[in-house]
Amino acid sequence: MIPIARAQIGPEEEAAVLNVMRSGMLAQGAQVAAFEQGFAEVCRVCEAIAVSSGTAALHLALLAHEVGPGDEVITSPFSFAATGNTILLVGATPIFVDIDPDTYNLDPEQVAHAITPRTKAIMPVHLYGNPANMGRLVPLAEAHGLVIIEDACQAHAAAIHGKPVGSFGTGAFSFYPTNCASLLAMSPSGGESLTTPRSGKRIVRSARDGVCPGSYTVTSVFSESSAARLSA
Ligand SMILES: Cc1ncc(COP(=O)(O)O)c(C=O)c1O
Repeated sequence: MIPIARAQIGPEEEAAVLNVMRSGMLAQGAQVAAFEQGFAEVCRVCEAIAVSSGTAALHLALLAHEVGPGDEVITSPFSFAATGNTILLVGATPIFVDIDPDTYNLDPEQVAHAITPRTKAIMPVHLYGNPANMGRLVPLAEAHGLVIIEDACQAHAAAIHGKPVGSFGTGAFSFYPTNCASLLAMSPSGGESLTTPRSGKRIVRSARDGVCPGSYTVTSVFSESSAARLSA
């Protein structure tokens, strides 16, 4: 049988895990902060926020852009269930439009036809590491004042003419082991990242941590989004 993903775990990864375990700090901390900075550099965005899963990243991205009941989000039907589910989770309506048979990604023509006054966001999926047609989708979103949330869960470091996915809008990534056989595959639960514009950063960080940054005022019920330090 051909494995769909093979984690490459060597002495360096083992030492990194042991260091975290011996530090006694298994949640949030220097490793997570370093991971966030490194990943932001890879995506060439101002900030990356590590959360617990790609699903949490998509969910928080929608919250950060204040997508909610009454809003429509245009997305692809050919994806993992989390893409549509997170739109439902915030009370918005997923509008599935057909894919381009050549790329299996969102067809920009179909997206253009699906835009209504209730459309708030476009959520392209960069499927199998192949970026969606951002050259067409970004101008479309700009022309209609729409948010772009990129489901980049399968497309770490993929780029279009050198511009990385996750930097066209707000990007959500998954480090579930079959999605990315990098050093992060060493942790069974992985560690995830969400790139976001500054406006949504505070919403995401307080939702991720369950408290207001710098205080212990509980602001959110989403503390399950926290990235364990071991994951990074
Ligand atoms: C396209 C896509 N979106 C979202 C997700 C959800 O990521 P996670 O499993 O980390 O929640 C996945 C996971 O495989 C995915 O492939």
